[in-house]
Amino acid sequence: MSTHPLEATAKAMVAPGKGILAADESTGTIEKRFAGIKVESTEENRCAYRDMLFSAKGLGQYISGVILYDETMRQKSADGTPFVELLSKNGILPGIKVDTGAKDLALCPNEKVTEGLDNLAKRCAEYGKMGAKFAKWRAVVTIGAGMPSSTCIAANAHALARYAAICQAAGLTPIVEPEVLMDGDHTVERCEEATEWTLNAVYEALHLHRVTLEQSVLKPSMVISGKDCPKQAGVEEVAERTVRILKRTVPAAVAGVVFLSGGQSDEVATEHLNAMNRMYAGKLPWPLSFSYGRALQQPSLKAWKGSASNVAIAQAALLHRARMNGLACLGRYTAELERQALAA
Ligand code: 13P
Repeated sequence: MSTHPLEATAKAMVAPGKGILAADESTGTIEKRFAGIKVESTEENRCAYRDMLFSAKGLGQYISGVILYDETMRQKSADGTPFVELLSKNGILPGIKVDTGAKDLALCPNEKVTEGLDNLAKRCAEYGKMGAKFAKWRAVVTIGAGMPSSTCIAANAHALARYAAICQAAGLTPIVEPEVLMDGDHTVERCEEATEWTLNAVYEALHLHRVTLEQSVLKPSMVISGKDCPKQAGVEEVAERTVRILKRTVPAAVAGVVFLSGGQSDEVATEHLNAMNRMYAGKLPWPLSFSYGRALQQPSLKAWKGSASNVAIAQAALLHRARMNGLACLGRYTAELERQALAA
């Protein structure tokens, strides 16, 4: 039996020792990231920054795919090569964010629902023609007083399932991303509860909407303590709790799991992924990998500072984080490797 092309893409996205670079910041989000390094968010600067990331030599050794934003999908490298082509040439699959952002969920104060289903089939077909192989849709779930509500969970699970079904019908492999936010002072137990609830609802909705799980990738948040919680769960506790919830809720047919970093520091995100792969090697039905935005880009962004003269050191910083996370996919990351490489 031959493998369906969407399943082959899903498998390639989680190939051993590789993960995904999320570089799909919307114009508003990249403006915030640039403000942190005092760089103006012009189309030219956004293009130069993404060019620096995508033309890092050897990136394809650790990165299987890159998620792009609509504007980036249409931009070119300095030598005139379209980004989509540049990535494909380096063995990296181009992907595209297709949601239009998390908006206020009516009658549910402080909760969000992700929009973007309007014309989605048409947009997916266009992105497919432009060379995209996979897509991403991010839902956010907030923990707080009386939150998450069942309304928020149901609305977001439904939208994720509609999106995933539309992608598969249009020939794109969907990344299904339900993010339980780390904002707040909630305990790790509450995060675990909210994550279990969310993932259960998501897989029920995917089933209802006839999504083929083998042709999909899950992008969850890890089970961690709220950012402002005085008691922070340690690395092994996070690994244990996260894997426990994935085992309870994610069908074995799913092609792979790629975590988001969600505001964890770059090294902590790597440590968590490494611990899971070290502690559960050979015991799980899906590969556990990464699809980090900030945790891959932050050191590179800081080194770049908007200047062409910093491109080489910024690329070295990106390659370093990509390599460390590639090792974490195999459970082979160590603090020594982190330090050695930094000293080199
Ligand atoms: P972070 O790793 O910065 O959370 O970004 C991943 C992402 O793509 C969020 O949608």
